[in-house]
This record gives sequence, C-alpha cells and structure tokens, in this order.
Amino acid sequence: MEIKIGRNDPCWCGSGKKYKKCHCDFDEIIEEHRVLGEIVPPRELIKNKEQIKGIKESGVINTAVLDYVAENIKVGCTTEDIDKWVYSKTVELGAVPAPLNYEGFPKSVCTSIDNVVCHGIPSPDVVLKEGDIINVDISTIYKGYFSDASRMFCIGNVSEEKRKLVEITEKSVELGLAQVKPWGHLGDIAQVIKDLAHENGYTVVREIGGHGIGLEFHEDPWVSYVTNKGTDMLLAPGLCFTIEPMINMGTHRINTDKEDGWTVRTADGKPSAQREIQVIVTDDGCEVISH
Ligand code: MF3
Ligand code: CO
Repeated sequence: MEIKIGRNDPCWCGSGKKYKKCHCDFDEIIEEHRVLGEIVPPRELIKNKEQIKGIKESGVINTAVLDYVAENIKVGCTTEDIDKWVYSKTVELGAVPAPLNYEGFPKSVCTSIDNVVCHGIPSPDVVLKEGDIINVDISTIYKGYFSDASRMFCIGNVSEEKRKLVEITEKSVELGLAQVKPWGHLGDIAQVIKDLAHENGYTVVREIGGHGIGLEFHEDPWVSYVTNKGTDMLLAPGLCFTIEPMINMGTHRINTDKEDGWTVRTADGKPSAQREIQVIVTDDGCEVISH
C-alpha cells in the first residue's frame, strides 16, 4: 500500500518537483493496469533523473570497454588476456568491473565460447582459435551505478552455421528493442525474440534471463525471453533492464559446471549465442544505456 501523496507535495521519485507535475499521471496509468490484474513495476524500480544520469555515464564506460575488446580480440589471445584488458580499461576510465568478486566470481568479465551459454570464466589456458564464437559480457560500476552489455565475436573464419546463429541472435535483440515503449509488456520483447529463434530452428534458454539494473547489478524484474506478448511486467518510463537472450542451435537445456559453479553449457554440446543490451524506458520509447 502506497501512502497517498497530495498533488502539491514533493514527488515520491525524489525529483523535488510537485507530485502533480511529476509522477501523478504516471501513477494513474499504473493504477489502471494494476486493477486489471497486470504485473506493474513497483516505485523502487523507477529511476529518477539523477539516477538515469549516473546509469548513462556508467553505460558509456561499459560500451567503451566493449569497444576496446572489439578492437583487440583475435586468434591466439587467451580469455585471460580479455580479462586483463577489461580490468585495466575499466579502472583507467574510473570505474570498477561489476563481476569481480560478485557472489564469488573470480574475474572481471564473462567469456563464453561455442557451447558455453554464459558465465564462462577467463583462463590463461583458453586460447581463441579460428572458428570460435565467443560472447564477452561486460558489466561496470561507476559512482555506484551499474551497466551491463555483451557482444558476440567471430574469431577468424567461422562456419556458416555458427555465423548464422550469431546473426539471428543479434537480429532478435534488435527486434526486442523495437518493442520497448511505455505501457507495453516485457512479454512483447520475449515474443519477437523467441519467434525469430524458432523460425530459424533454434531454441531459447529458459532458466536464465535478463534483469532490472541500475542501482544494483541484478534488480527486479527477472526478464524471460520465452513468454508471450502482453504478459509479464508492464513497461513504464524509468524502468531499466537488460535484453540478453541466449539462443541455442540445439536443445534449450543447459547445465552448470559442478566444479566451478559458474560455467553454463548447452546440454547437447551444440553452440549457443547471446547478445546483451541495457535499455531504459522513456516517456516516448526507450534509450539504449549500453550495447
Ligand atoms: N553479466 C551477467 C549478466 O548479464 C552477469 C554475470 S554474473 C558474474 O547478468 F558474476 F558472472 F559476472
Ligand atoms: Co545482464
């Protein structure tokens, strides 16, 4: 139960503006959807102007670190090299890699090759070879604000089959992004992503999804890419989250490595691709925070 705010009281978002000039209309729309039984975002997930500014600054750094990896990644480098680049570039830009020591994760970045779906741990023993597809997943903390994005890289000559998986995964995220607007639903994004994957004979990972982000690394909502249009949380201005489907060439089923507790692999050993972008819903659409 929210405490009733007077129209001339300061808005709950912390903007300092009067409620009637700030989130008053917003709350009315949320209430209309809530009474229809929809899942609506709670206030604590709605970022204010100041928070959005900080999250954007974090996102710019995160994207710059990904660009740096893109410029340097090639056959023969190790995933440990990528980890070193990410750590040093992030620190050089005045930020901190969010994965480092996150729930015990030992490195600054996740590097996931071929049948590794996500959360691969960089190692000096893993050398990139011709034909590999690798996801590099980078997350940044800057002035307490979080950002998160990942890209696929094709190392040298990659088979037609794997290249297509990477391209369709990229395309699915573009289609998902086009669905992000106020008063849509998270399921609108999932629907277009899973449709494209299925049309191409691929599957979508079910147990791992995207997440709210901004003031913490992983906030609500949890974001599925296998749900239906018009379902899941209502999208509202100020809601910030990731779009990061994992698309598999074979089965959707996955296993987590029992030894390291992190590395997630496809159950059938076939390749998997992922693309991650971070977005925020705006008054008239959305903005990409990091890509
Ligand atoms: N970057 C991942 C994500 O997209 C999270 C990885 S958690 C870590 O949510 F500890 F493995 F880094
Ligand atoms: Co993420």
